[in-house]
Amino acid sequence: TVTDASSFVDSKIAVVPDFPKPGILFRDVTPLFSDADAFATVTTALSEPFDGGFVAVAGIEARGFALAGGIAIEQGVGVLTVRKAGKLPGEVLSESYALEYGEATLELRPNQIPAGSSVLIVDDVLATGGTVEATITLLERAGYVVAGVAVLLELDGLGGRARLEGRVPVHALSSA
Ligand code: PRP
Repeated sequence: TVTDASSFVDSKIAVVPDFPKPGILFRDVTPLFSDADAFATVTTALSEPFDGGFVAVAGIEARGFALAGGIAIEQGVGVLTVRKAGKLPGEVLSESYALEYGEATLELRPNQIPAGSSVLIVDDVLATGGTVEATITLLERAGYVVAGVAVLLELDGLGGRARLEGRVPVHALSSA
């Protein structure tokens, strides 16, 4: 259930101060991924509000890949990988977005599934929402319809949900 999934998110995600840089409070999801019961439970709960409404799941590098794989097998759909710049061969769409300091770029290979396909976006953590917003733009530029966004954890006070709401439905298993 979603309640079980939320408790796994709360109990299994480790909070690591000053990683990868001083001042950053890092959320380490690896204990949740390595526990079979926890991983299966969160995978099911992440997609649940959207089940039947998407034909592919887009995983955001890096931890979104593992979650997308789990959802894809369970729901019988394919995976799209949204990658950091320079990792994908051939034709790619690129979208840059602002970070606190500097800029990041995400990329997607177009023409992998039919235009008009509905796609669910999945990632571990929603913070400012910049990563997901760039992913929405990439998927829309590729001709797809974003069914929704599913994350394990949303961080309050960073504006992610406000930035995305009104554009796509946002489902978070827990918040901190
Ligand atoms: C983290 C997280 C999300 C993103 C959320 O990724 O996994 O993808 O930040 O932040 P935002 O909502 O403010 O955009 P990270 O930059 O650590 O990359 P990684 O997954 O490759 O380690």
